[in-house]
Amino acid sequence: MTVDHSRAPVLQALEDYHRKGRLGFTPPGHKQARGADPAVREVLGDSVFLGDVLATGGLDDRLTRGRVLQEAQELMADAVHAEHTFFSTCGSSLSVKAAMLSVAGPHEKLLIGRDAHKSVVAGLILSGIEPVWVEPRWDAERHLAHPPSAVDFDRAFEAHPDARGALVTSPTPYGSTAALEAIAEVCHRRSLPLIVDEAWGAHLPFHPDLPSWAMDAGADICVTSIHKMGSGLEQGSVFHLRGDLVPPALLGMRADLLGTTSPSVLIFAGLDGWRRQMALRGKELMGSALGLAAEVRAAVEEIDGMHVNDRDDFCGPELADGFDPLPCVIDVADLGITGYQAADWLRGHRSVDAHLVDHRRIGAQITHGDDRETAGELLSALRDLGRAAHGMPAAPRMEVPQPDELRMEQAMLPRDAFFGPAEEVRVSDAAGRVSAEMITPYPPGIPAVLPGERLTGPVLRYLSTGLAAGMYLPDPSDPGLETIRVVDERAAG
Ligand SMILES: Cc1ncc(COP(=O)(O)O)c(C=O)c1O
Repeated sequence: MTVDHSRAPVLQALEDYHRKGRLGFTPPGHKQARGADPAVREVLGDSVFLGDVLATGGLDDRLTRGRVLQEAQELMADAVHAEHTFFSTCGSSLSVKAAMLSVAGPHEKLLIGRDAHKSVVAGLILSGIEPVWVEPRWDAERHLAHPPSAVDFDRAFEAHPDARGALVTSPTPYGSTAALEAIAEVCHRRSLPLIVDEAWGAHLPFHPDLPSWAMDAGADICVTSIHKMGSGLEQGSVFHLRGDLVPPALLGMRADLLGTTSPSVLIFAGLDGWRRQMALRGKELMGSALGLAAEVRAAVEEIDGMHVNDRDDFCGPELADGFDPLPCVIDVADLGITGYQAADWLRGHRSVDAHLVDHRRIGAQITHGDDRETAGELLSALRDLGRAAHGMPAAPRMEVPQPDELRMEQAMLPRDAFFGPAEEVRVSDAAGRVSAEMITPYPPGIPAVLPGERLTGPVLRYLSTGLAAGMYLPDPSDPGLETIRVVDERAAG
């Protein structure tokens, strides 16, 4: 059956809603902008309010007889070679939890690459799933992690034959990718499902020069943020399913536990429109983005003191399997500044925002939304940064641990440590104690500390010196990190 990708059911239903002049005595209370504060309308524009209608009993009828959302999801599934697609208006932070909950339950084991995002850890805390951490491939020279290999997952399954499945993050926020086909094969040999957190990979299905992606590689569930590399609105995420290891009704049921009963039609419309745009013009748009990224990469490389991480840096037998060139990860260490200083300078002096920021890098993601003009602005700002760096104060000293020092023992289940008896101790007294909270440098959002991990000096010093150097930690209970919440092991027995 040929599928008509020129259709966009959510957008069409919205047009229909306006054409018919539907009148809702329902939420949302702004009633098509009429009740919204004029000062808010001035800033947001009325189209935001006009697109914000009740999904069921507004956009579609009260029994969803128009199949608006269902049809939009079916079209999305077709575009990315999935069998089922679910839309989420709560980001991949929801999607990844729904995926995890459909594979394992309380006290069941799930193999997870330790470079997982904090939303995965939140999923462990809420569910009581026992993580079996699979070590990422650490690049000790550059101090960053690439996804674990298929052999690493195979070994973890050998050691934990009772694990219920595996979860791998690919691409990483730095753009490196896992050997998904081989990891899927390792799982399927045991009739177990593979979840891929592909939050950064919305664009991958749409150009042959981009790395392989989850559904085509044989993964069972794949989670994608359409707002990150795609043109969906913030919070727009999808999760896809194929194969018979996870029943679609079960996945839907688990997602229902987490989702809102008031999903945003604006976000649905963004997802629907992105699918149509990619199905009709994806190859052309991604081809241009790839061309532009290559130009930007070459130009950044010409700037003294900057180096763009490329395939040679990221890929290799002990490193990543593949590489997405659209996130341009720029190493500024040779300028003698940190990524934090570089990002602050770009924002303060040139109104240019970098995304990924760490102790030695900034990330500038190029998408199909960029063009020569935006790329030119970026390059001119980076050249100015290169010149200004010499006058900046010396980079604050950060104690970045070696890979083996970063890993801590998972002494308790994340859920038990998070919800059990806890106390606050000074960070200087915290080494040896079990953390009752999560501490995450953001972005990229990979927790350095998880509830249940036994804290060590090198990790605590990394976070304290990082905070002083400009690292952003959104989640510790003491944002100044003078104290840390740890398990009260006497009370916990
Ligand atoms: C690897 C990864 N997974 C999941 C998420 C959560 O995605 P969202 O921001 O769409 O909730 C992120 C967000 O940065 C991420 O980097």
